[in-house]
Amino acid sequence: MTTRSYLVCGVLLLAGCNDASSKASKDQGDKGEAAPKGAVADRSLPGNPFAKSVDAILDGKKLYLNYGCAACHGMGGGGGMGKPLIDDEWKFGSDDKTLFKLVRGEIPNQTMPNAIGKSLTDDEVWKVLMYVRSIYAGDPGKIDWTVPPPVPPTRVQPTVPFVVVPVR
Ligand code: HEC
Repeated sequence: MTTRSYLVCGVLLLAGCNDASSKASKDQGDKGEAAPKGAVADRSLPGNPFAKSVDAILDGKKLYLNYGCAACHGMGGGGGMGKPLIDDEWKFGSDDKTLFKLVRGEIPNQTMPNAIGKSLTDDEVWKVLMYVRSIYAGDPGKIDWTVPPPVPPTRVQPTVPFVVVPVR
C-alpha cells in the first residue's frame, strides 16, 4: 500500500515538472481539453483573456460556424433571425463580462438559447467572442473592450461553413 502511494507521488511530481515549463498547458478550457495550438490566454487581462490573440479570432470563427451562431446571426454577423453582432446596439450591454454571460446562457431574461453556450468551455466562449469583436463595424468611439489585433490577410481562410473541426 505504502509503496504504491510513493510510486503515484513520483509520477505526479514528474508530470508536474514537465507541466510547469509548458506555457501551452495553461491554455486549456476548464473542462480539460487541449486548446488549439496558437491561441495563448493572458489571464492578467481585465476582460477577454484572448484579447490580443489573432489565433483566438481564427479559432473563434470556426466555433461561430460550427456551433450554429451563424444560423441566427448570419455568417458575417450581420443578423437574421437573431440580432446583428456588428453594430453598436447591444441588448444587455457590450462589455466582455456581459457578452460572456449571454453566450453562456446566464442572463435571466435572455431569449438567445443557452444550450450552445453550456456545451462550450470558458475559453471557447472567450474565443467565439473574439470573433464577434473582430467583425464589429459600429462606432469606434463606443468600444468598451480591447480592440482585437487585425488578422493578417495571409491568415484569413476561405469561409467553409459546417466543416467539422476537432474543437472538443
Ligand atoms: C436561435 C438563435 C440564436 C443562436 C443559435 C445564437 N444566438 Fe446570439 N442572440 C440571439 C438573440 C435572439 C439575441 C438577442 C439577445 C436576447 O434577447 O437574448 C442574441 C444576442 C447575441 C449577442 C449580443 C448582441 C446584441 O446586439 O446585444 C451576441 C454577442 C451573440 N448573440 C452571440 C452569439 C454567439 C457567439 C452564438 C453561438 C455560440 C449565438 N449568439 C447563437 C439568438 C441566437
